[in-house]
Amino acid sequence: MQTFLTGKFQDESRQGEVYLSEIGLSPISFKKFFIESYGCQMNFSDSEIVASILQGEGYSATKDLDEADLVLLNTCSIREKAEQTVRKRLTEFRKVKLHRPGMVIGLLGCMAERLKSKLLEEEQLVDLVIGPDAYRTLPQLIKEAGIGQKGINVLLSREETYADIAPVRLNSNGITAFVSIMRGCNNMCAFCVVPFTRGRERSRDADSIINECRDLFNTGYREVTLLGQNVDSYYWNDGQSGTSVTFADLLDRVGAISPLLRVRFSTSHPKDITDDVLRIMASRENICKYIHLPVQSGSNRILQLMNRTYTREWYLSKVDRIREFMPDCGISSDIIAGFCSESDADHSDTLDVMQKSRYDFSYMFMYSERPGTLAAKRFKDDVTSDVKKDRLEEIVALQNKLSLESNKRDLGKTFTVLIEGDSKRSERHWMGRNSQNKVIVFLKQNDGLQKGSYTRVIVTDCTQGTLLGEQSN
Ligand code: SAH
Ligand code: SF4
Ligand code: F3S
Repeated sequence: MQTFLTGKFQDESRQGEVYLSEIGLSPISFKKFFIESYGCQMNFSDSEIVASILQGEGYSATKDLDEADLVLLNTCSIREKAEQTVRKRLTEFRKVKLHRPGMVIGLLGCMAERLKSKLLEEEQLVDLVIGPDAYRTLPQLIKEAGIGQKGINVLLSREETYADIAPVRLNSNGITAFVSIMRGCNNMCAFCVVPFTRGRERSRDADSIINECRDLFNTGYREVTLLGQNVDSYYWNDGQSGTSVTFADLLDRVGAISPLLRVRFSTSHPKDITDDVLRIMASRENICKYIHLPVQSGSNRILQLMNRTYTREWYLSKVDRIREFMPDCGISSDIIAGFCSESDADHSDTLDVMQKSRYDFSYMFMYSERPGTLAAKRFKDDVTSDVKKDRLEEIVALQNKLSLESNKRDLGKTFTVLIEGDSKRSERHWMGRNSQNKVIVFLKQNDGLQKGSYTRVIVTDCTQGTLLGEQSN
């Protein structure tokens, strides 16, 4: 069969199909899909679920666009720029399709949910549109697209968690993996499109999460990141046994799989993170001492407009609490510059909270109005883009300073590092992370260490983004 596949047909993508239909098998068997993901880790994790569904239909993944029968874009709507990037990419795909009319282009993810049939009907950019809760219907829609019908399913669900689907790991280093523990979001942060694109919050069956993490460990993975928009509101109630599982319980159970399996999670909403979670983190060495705790703004007035439901004082007391339980805990944040009506004084409050929280790292953005959100309905996007840009620059400059200070505080300290692979810059160096999620690069020795090994590394130097070290034997 392989020989036949490398044979003489002009349209290579159809070789397997022709042969298989001749011998009476499903023609779908040798088809290839290409998937590109944008946005948050949840989207990347969803692409692995999509890959699993497609594999069940006989598709195999390819990284080469030119040999793909099915091209999927898993998209993000969080800021306007994210959507523009995807539109550009779709136009490129359209050009490829001119030469390969049989190719099917599908839009997945948050843009599919937000724009529904717009890119399908009005702009004719895609053949399929499938929202984040409808991936099980992908095979049916692909078949319909194959016979020229445009397919769309953007129904959101209150139950779908894809709990029974074992993700096919894409672009994996074989050491670290994402595991979705919940979907959707019930918070209504005024700036945010996620509740509209991802629907209501629902938690995944705890046993299926534990099983997935255990399987990962047994196949050589050494780190799992539990994913949800708001992991602290994870709650699973097993109707049969009557047991309920909170996020703290779940962390404890995943942590118990093996001391050699590191556990991370993201994202924590400051209003929901509990002492129970902090206690479990502190009690288990393998639960990483790192919390992503997005503040968004440091001004109480803006936080209220954003509907974040906490004040700066509450936020700072959470940061203190984290450090009480775990003095060495890494903390990072998300920050938005130039939300509606933000004044210079509000902006200064943000810089002040950053200083006080001493973030190791932050993701920083200019506010981008999203249609349909509470902010778009209620407030004016009245901070000019120049002011947004200036404020963002100040925020970035401050974060760079804080990151460097944080790394300098680590000079001379020794950390346990999980090796993830070669350093990007040199094959003579390993790249790994410490528990606090900082990247450490160090020279390889001839001592049998490999990807997935743990080793102790003393920090000898640093840049703003990386720690440099030496193995301490
Ligand atoms: N669930 C996570 C974040 C999801 S979105 C949380 O609650 O923190 C990731 C980040 O994108 C947000 O934390 C926010 O900082 C940013 N973001 C969301 N909507 C945005 C918008 N309209 N403009 C700019 N940044 C935005
Ligand atoms: Fe968006 Fe807020 Fe939900 Fe995060 S918690 S996904 S920012 S609505
Ligand atoms: Fe983007 Fe959707 Fe994630 S909007 S950030 S891909 S939930």
